[in-house]
Order: sequence, then structure tokens, then C-alpha cells
Amino acid sequence: MAQTALHTTNDTEFAPEAPFGDAWGPALMGPFAPVMDESVWDRLEVHGEIPADLNGVYLRNGPNPRFAPQGRYHPFDGDGMIHAAQFENGKVVYRNRWVRTDAWQEEDRAGQATHHGIRETLKGRTDKRLKDAANTDVIGHGGIALASWYMSGEIYMLDPITLETLGKAPYAKRYGGGFSAHSKVDEQTGELLFFDYWNEAPYMSYGVVAADGTVKNHVPIELPGPRLPHDMAVTEHYSILHDLPLFHNEEAMALGRHKLQFHPEMPTRFGVIPRYGASHEIRWFEFSPCFLYHVVNAWEEGDEVVMVACRYMPERTARGDIDAERTARNIAELKMRSRLWRWRMNMKTGEAREEQLDDRFNIEFPSFRAEQTGRRTRWGYLVDHDPDILHWTGIRKFNTDTGECVGEFSDGAAHTWYSEPWFAPADGGTREDDGYVVAFAWNQATRQQQLQVFDARDVSAGPVARVMLPRRVPVGFHACWIARKNLARARSA
Ligand SMILES: [Fe+2]
Repeated sequence: MAQTALHTTNDTEFAPEAPFGDAWGPALMGPFAPVMDESVWDRLEVHGEIPADLNGVYLRNGPNPRFAPQGRYHPFDGDGMIHAAQFENGKVVYRNRWVRTDAWQEEDRAGQATHHGIRETLKGRTDKRLKDAANTDVIGHGGIALASWYMSGEIYMLDPITLETLGKAPYAKRYGGGFSAHSKVDEQTGELLFFDYWNEAPYMSYGVVAADGTVKNHVPIELPGPRLPHDMAVTEHYSILHDLPLFHNEEAMALGRHKLQFHPEMPTRFGVIPRYGASHEIRWFEFSPCFLYHVVNAWEEGDEVVMVACRYMPERTARGDIDAERTARNIAELKMRSRLWRWRMNMKTGEAREEQLDDRFNIEFPSFRAEQTGRRTRWGYLVDHDPDILHWTGIRKFNTDTGECVGEFSDGAAHTWYSEPWFAPADGGTREDDGYVVAFAWNQATRQQQLQVFDARDVSAGPVARVMLPRRVPVGFHACWIARKNLARARSA
């Protein structure tokens, strides 16, 4: 069995940058190479000062295969690993730990990979099983961290401080379904708003779980066919579900292959359903065809439901038509060309309007003041996205009312690899941007891993604190911030 050191500390060697060799190419090398141990560090060198009013934990999920993959590899395949930075009274502790999914535990016993990835042909193959890696998203609900996968799957609960896997969420059994990455938490009510999708009719469901785990609503959502939504949005009274014209190629799916197809002849549809609504209460609004990965935030303005998101710009042919094939291929390979966009849905008149907010910056992986989820916000914090590779070269602050970029920071764009930043409110702050932006930053040129803390009011000023980490944090996906008051709530419950 391959040996994996668990909770090793005081080893200052950086992990090798190709632990499985080069057979899988750049997807598992350099900044993408997994780390092979779990660690806790509490005496870290800090340049600058960790703000005393920054208290809580920044969690970042991402793929980190423990064993050499069986067959072809895609970043959605690797075992989920959480990297955490816990801030308390001007001090910081770093931890990293795998999510103990069922697949992780099985492979732990076997001492090798026993599952295959999404690029493999799986249909009718009992020797090939897909891994629910819980590697895509992490959110805080009721003081517990929830890790989930990009395709709807299990919900794994984690202690947000120790990162110990606490098992699967019991309420999933109560509603009898899966759970997609990008389910949302309304921090003001403590509710978890989730969606689930699969390949048989009605193809989607939507539900609400209270902070105590009670399932308050769970209804089927009928779609015209199997779809691949990535995100949802919520407002104070509604949830917004996505039916996008990018989904599995049907012929390939019949053969068990994972191939995406973009349909420029179909509209993008957003379904607005009252938070506790029944299936028939959903209202669909049609917009220009697009794909979108990530919503910044949504809210209500009078009769309108407003959603701001990063809209993937379909690829064009030399003649200016949408190049459906190249669009689908790039999305499958996580090559993003996206722009900040706003959609408005009038619940009274049925009117649907959309507008591009900015046409200069390829931005993605948004965050905002999550206490304001579903309520109007003005500030979004996003990454500068390299259009050809999953490489985030800098951080930008946007005014999502005007589309103006009001702050930017890059620490040597070509060499620096940021993680998804998250906004962390300052204790006692009253304005929307009273707080900090927290992100990991790996410098491939100097082989230095930092945790950077920015004053959210002035991102362009650069980090107010740089924490030197003795571990590389590989390229990953989503992050979240759980404030100390929300951690305390769970621990005293
Ligand atoms: Fe995502």
C-alpha cells in the first residue's frame, strides 16, 4: 500500500510536483500536483499583520488524488481535499485534510485507485465505477462545512476546524436525493437551499433544509431533458434554477461517454420558484443562449428578480456565428472566457432583460459578503482567469451595479496561482465592504506558498498580511468563509 503520512508536522519540504510521474500530463504536475500528506501548522511566519477583527475560517476544496488515477484524468476526478486557514485574534492556523468519502475509504483499504474518472466510458462496465470525490464546493451550514461534487452527489459533513469528516448529511436520507455543488445558504435564516439533477425525468429537484436539518421543502422540477446546470441563485423569497443549452451529447451518453454539446438554437432559461413553492409555481424566463458556471449574487428589486453572474461567452467562428463545438469543448476543459452579466426577471409582467456589465475582463470564481446572500449587494471579488488554463492570476473587485472594476491586484501574474478568494467580514463592520479578502497564492517561480489577506475596501493596495505556508496548496476549485460566530453556534448546539 502506498504510504501516506497523516498529520505530519514540522516537515518543511514542499511536496513533489509530479508524485505520479508525467503520464497524466500537466493536469497532475506543477501547480496541479496533489500533495500527499495532511498537516497542521500553527507557528507561521507572517509579513504584515493579521487583523485582529478577522475571526473565522477560510476553507478551500479541490481535487487531490491520493493514488495514481485509473485511466484518463479530469480535475473533477481527484479526491477532495480541504485546505483551511483559521483566523483567531490575530493568529492563523493552517490545516489540510482529505474528505473521507466512501470512495476514499474504499481506496484506502485497497491501497490503490479503484474508481474511474468522468472521461472514461462507464456504461455497462461493472469494472469501472465513477467516483463521487466531493472535491468541488465547500459551504458552511449550521456551523458545519459541507463538501460536494460538481455533478450531483453525496453531501459530506466536515468539522470546519479539525476538517474531520463527520459522515453524510442525515437530511439527505430524509429527502431521498442527491445534492449539487453550489447549493446556497441564506445566512440570515440559516436555511440551505439546494438543487439536485440526474438523467431521468423530471431531471431536477429543489429543496430547503433548515439550520437544524429539518427538510422544509423538496419538489421535483421538470426539465425538457437531462441537463448540466452548475449553479443556482437565491433571493429573499425565491430560488433561481438554471436550464442551460449546454448538456450531454445524447448519443455519447447512451454509450456511457461524457461529451458536452452546446445548442445555440436553444434559449438559456432561468426558473424562479418561491422559496417554499410547489413545482407548478416555477416561472421560466428565456434569455440568449449561454453557459454559466458561477453566480455572484441575486436579489429582489421591486417586482424584479435580479441575478449577476459570470456568463461564458460562446466561441465564434470567423464569420461571427456561434461555434457550438468549440464552445462545448472549451467548457469541458475548463477554458473560460466569461464576462460579468446581469439578468432581470419581472415577476409581474414576465419581462426578461439582460445586460453585459463589463467587456474587458475575463473574470470568474466570484465571492461577495455572504451574509447578504439573496439581498442586494454591490461588491464582488473575482479572479482574473487565464482563458486557456485553470490559472487565476490576480484578484479584482467589481462594482456589480455599474460593472466598474474598482480594485485589482496581481502578484506577478504569470507565476502566481490564486485560489478562489472569499470575502471575510470584519467583526463589527457595518458597510458591505468592511472586511477582508482571503486567498492562497502559490508562486511557481519562487516555489513559495502564501496565504494573502487584503483589505476589501482597497484590494489594489495589496495584501495587508502575507502568511508564509510550508505547504503548496494545489490548484483547486471553491472556497468559503465561515465566521467565528457561526462556528460558535454549531459548537454550542
Ligand atoms: Fe463551480
